[in-house]
Amino acid sequence: MRILVLHGPNLNMLGRREPEIYGDTTLTQIDNALQERATTAGATLLTFQSNHEGALIDMIQREGWTADGIIINPGALTHYGLSLRDALSSLTAPIVEVHLSNVYKREPFRHTSVIAPIATGQIAGLGWRGYLLALEWLLASVDSTST
Ligand code: DQA
Repeated sequence: MRILVLHGPNLNMLGRREPEIYGDTTLTQIDNALQERATTAGATLLTFQSNHEGALIDMIQREGWTADGIIINPGALTHYGLSLRDALSSLTAPIVEVHLSNVYKREPFRHTSVIAPIATGQIAGLGWRGYLLALEWLLASVDSTST
């Protein structure tokens, strides 16, 4: 099983960026925790972060078609990234949208996700563990016979 994990703009700053909202855990720590769990489950996990929508789309076009599941925190692109949405919606694999913070408790512009309508599901407000929960769901849901 192949899982693609995508992190959008500013998520490379986790640990330093508004820790009262996003927590102290760095992106490297999150990626390592995901890798560790995937390895235990015998899955292959590829992680990628970019501050650029086009770079995320290039990665989706390159790796998304062979992925059995996608985990994405699109950062602020969640709220307006229509090109990112189009790239994701052309894939057939399940997509889990993850947010560290509970975007629905925050500013009104964060209440709209252009990704959510094409995602299989969404996890918001559970901090870095939300990524692990997303991975757990994919591991349990995606056909384990797929390579
Ligand atoms: C975020 C929420 C977004 O509104 C914000 O722009 C982010 C992070 C989250 O993980 O809570 O960059 O996606």
